[in-house]
Amino acid sequence: AAATRYEAENATISQGLVESNHAGYSGTGFVNYDNLTGGYVQFTVNAASAGTAAITLRYANGTTVNRPMTIAVNGTAVSANLAFNGTGAWTTWASTTVSAPVNAGSNTIRATATTANGGPNLDYVDV
Ligand code: GCU
Ligand code: CA
Repeated sequence: AAATRYEAENATISQGLVESNHAGYSGTGFVNYDNLTGGYVQFTVNAASAGTAAITLRYANGTTVNRPMTIAVNGTAVSANLAFNGTGAWTTWASTTVSAPVNAGSNTIRATATTANGGPNLDYVDV
């Protein structure tokens, strides 16, 4: 089935801000993670059926340093310290995809920054 898009600016945000000062984002903005460990964006997403879902995260990282995040689904880490490498500019957006088990119906997806640099700027997830 076609993916559904969930905008980061509509998600639950801990230690980050919705901003729109770097062009190229989807929706009305993106989340700028605070530059610290532990900030997160949590999405509530729907799956038509239980099984393995592709979770695509769109982000920008205008530095040359990886901004890893751990991706958890329904509270269980499915990808620890997933790389969000530099994209060349804060206006250059890239995507990375992880596969993870999901339940039928509602699921949470949380992307938590794991270094003191914080996460990248996060635009959306497609599930
Ligand atoms: C800059 C940029 C932000 C980004 C931040 C960072 O301030 O404008 O969008 O989040 O760098 O390094 O995290
Ligand atoms: Ca930031």
